[in-house]
Amino acid sequence: MKGHLSDDQLEIIQDGGILHQHGKITEIGKYDQLKHKNQDATLERIDGNFVVLPGMIDVHTHICWAGSRIEDYAMRLSGKNYLEIAESGGGIWNTVEKTRKATLIELTELTAQRAQKMLKQGVTTIEAKSGYGLSVEDELKILEAIKLADRNSQADIIPTCLAAHILPSDFDGDENDYLTYITDKLLPEIKKKNLAKRVDIFIEKNAFSVATAKEYLLQAKEMGFDITIHGDQFSSGAAGLAIESEALSIDHLEAADNDEIALLAGGNVIPVILPGSSIGLGEPFAPAHKLLDACTSLVIASDWNPGSAPMGNLLTGASILATYEKLTMAEIWTALTCRAALALNKTDRGILKTGMKADFIAFKTNDFREIIYRQGELKPEKVWKNGSIYH
Ligand code: NIG
Ligand code: FE
Repeated sequence: MKGHLSDDQLEIIQDGGILHQHGKITEIGKYDQLKHKNQDATLERIDGNFVVLPGMIDVHTHICWAGSRIEDYAMRLSGKNYLEIAESGGGIWNTVEKTRKATLIELTELTAQRAQKMLKQGVTTIEAKSGYGLSVEDELKILEAIKLADRNSQADIIPTCLAAHILPSDFDGDENDYLTYITDKLLPEIKKKNLAKRVDIFIEKNAFSVATAKEYLLQAKEMGFDITIHGDQFSSGAAGLAIESEALSIDHLEAADNDEIALLAGGNVIPVILPGSSIGLGEPFAPAHKLLDACTSLVIASDWNPGSAPMGNLLTGASILATYEKLTMAEIWTALTCRAALALNKTDRGILKTGMKADFIAFKTNDFREIIYRQGELKPEKVWKNGSIYH
């Protein structure tokens, strides 16, 4: 399912109903017909005008962090650039120092609270990256915290190892040495403890080069990890490696030029656009419209993190992106649901049909377009996760 979509391609059931059992959708159709065919079923009727949609899937977040980066934000507003902010003690390393000091219990609590907030906004599946530990011990602590937060939350939290976020300032060696250390010491531990099935890397001038990343990703792939990449955020050139390493997705793409778009159009790597990061940094939006013109898929995620994307509101970010990039409602909703599921290698969610997870959200309106029109301010009235209602 690639390329542009128009709103009339969305299948809308008027006066609809959903039957579900044991967390799965068993039937979907007109309420009256479902009721007639299933006399014994317990049917709950929601009176009033509601639009029901699949629960949203946020495929890219960094919600396991401690501390704040208000200082960075204020410095950005006063005109300081990335380098100046890092030099005065800000940037990713600042969050690493604070996250390393936090206990497992504190990090679990912070992550679960953020997941709960997202669930309230209608996000029923949340990807969460490590990447603020940057040592074997601290990355394991973060991934353990994500695992515990998943157990304590109604939303599904899917972990990703982003130990290759930046070269840690206290590491004795270069980028290659650091990635060898991660490959040898951390990834086997993650596998053994079943803490993540996904590996991410930040490919950028101040992080890891394409050449350095290549070896790392191919080894991670060999070990059985799914691959995802932070690429083309400030400079282009990561799309080729995303394709070569058979990454599920390449995320950011603000700096993707026509060559990168053409490469992506020829492969199966899913472009993930992160409007929250453009808004947080005051950078241009990624070329979402051009990507769809070239017939790629398109997913939108929040990138919620303390530095570049502090807002953490997926629907607001997506609605704003849509006005600038001219995305249809259908393109936005698929980017937040069924297309997003595939970026996480999931085929059991993101669409309301028989056999899928009973993850759905109800907004109080009689026009589905009102949700995007209100730019995230209209919140779901009810949220179901695996068939259980969360108010
Ligand atoms: O996706 N680009 C790299 N990583 C994050 C930012 C993390 C941070 O600033 O703490 C991102 O934008
Ligand atoms: Fe990110």
